Amino acid sequence: MNLNSIYTPKQIEILKACRNTDWFMLINHGAKRSGKTQLDNDIFLQELIRVRGIADKLGIDTPQYILAGYSMGNIQDNILTELSNKYGFEFKFDRFNNFTLFGVKVVQTSHGNISGLGRIRGMTAFGAYINEASLANQEVFDEIKARCSGPGARIIADTNPDHPEHWLLKDYIKSPAEGILSFHFALTDNSFLDERYVKNIIETTPKGMFSDRGIKGLWVSGEGVVYPDFDQSVHVITPEQARGIIFERVIAGVDWGWEHWGAIVVIGVKAGNYYVIEEHAAQHKHINSWIAAAKDIIRRYGNIPFYCDPARPEHVASFQEAGINAFLGNNRVLSGIEAVATLMTNKQFFIVYSQCPRFRDEIYKYIWKKNTGEPLKENDDVLCAIRYGIYSDMTVNKIEQPGQNRMEQARRLKGML
Ligand SMILES: Nc1ncnc2c1ncn2[C@@H]1O[C@H](COP(=O)(O)OP(=O)(O)OP(=O)(O)O)[C@@H](O)[C@H]1O
Ligand SMILES: [Mg+2]
Repeated sequence: MNLNSIYTPKQIEILKACRNTDWFMLINHGAKRSGKTQLDNDIFLQELIRVRGIADKLGIDTPQYILAGYSMGNIQDNILTELSNKYGFEFKFDRFNNFTLFGVKVVQTSHGNISGLGRIRGMTAFGAYINEASLANQEVFDEIKARCSGPGARIIADTNPDHPEHWLLKDYIKSPAEGILSFHFALTDNSFLDERYVKNIIETTPKGMFSDRGIKGLWVSGEGVVYPDFDQSVHVITPEQARGIIFERVIAGVDWGWEHWGAIVVIGVKAGNYYVIEEHAAQHKHINSWIAAAKDIIRRYGNIPFYCDPARPEHVASFQEAGINAFLGNNRVLSGIEAVATLMTNKQFFIVYSQCPRFRDEIYKYIWKKNTGEPLKENDDVLCAIRYGIYSDMTVNKIEQPGQNRMEQARRLKGML
């Protein structure tokens, strides 16, 4: 078999390095779509076979292996669906979501928050595969590492880059202990992607942090404003122009606030373009007044979905009790910002600027925090409402399944995906 026809040169380099060393941890980090997960999925299968061999020698019936991702849904999308498509596996899950492959029991756990700890506490694992490792709660990551105490246990991790002070970069990649291998990927390392596709990704990725991380695979933080590609000469429409558009659907985004402003925005969607057509923003406004504002929006646009900041579930519940179609919006902050920024870069975001005074105030003041790769939580209320609306709508449409309508899909969002 010619390796060059099934792997990129970078993937081959790593496979060789893994064969020639007795590694404990392998970290593949870098650009999106650069071939990290495809490689790690194959190494994961090799590892399961190796673990079964060790277990046979030791007379162990059921060796255990940890499969971790940001959420269970992400493990399914990034790893299990990929493996099913490529090799035709049909995974049969027990009631704890675990499955057996090649005679090894694979225990799935989410690492995005501390609740993932409970599923693996106390177990002895013969290895772990950690997808999107930089997003892991550090305690969960440490626990996974501590659980890998079976003889010959190894950890495979892949990740996109994060900020330059991140623990995964500082403690594992920059100053590796013995047995840790790490490899950097750039988009251009993926020789399976055609040139036009790569060119298109480069052109459509927002400049600055998102390009440096997503295309070059660099661990950088953001600088300056969060939405540098917003351009009045491109993104602004008049109320008359907005009234002339027949939207495929209308949605609302909600960010709760008291001292900080609360905000509801109304967004029309047509052919992949998002149009912010109304902004309601205020300080010190009681939940009953927000319910009244939402009802007025419903009177004009119909029973549209309201995707809400999930940090205040009691307010979402109040909306629901009032008969409003309110959902816990998707709160993956950076992915949501990237989604909105990408729409701006690609001229698919529009706003009735003259009617959105708070947006005008925020758009040039919403900035990145120094060194953390997160936005500063100021001047962000209408912008967060826009992010909840747009990113939740995108997520709902991505996961849409036959036989389920949008409202049923929206209910599955539950805040974080
Ligand atoms: N060895 C390979 N053989 C065939 N196609 C490949 C291979 N490696 C990568 N690809 C192609 O490149 C795409 C991206 O690869 P992969 O999903 O591994 O990237 P990634 O680095 O994990 O990206 P992300 O950071 O976005 O998760 C795959 O969907 C596949 O189409
Ligand atoms: Mg991946």
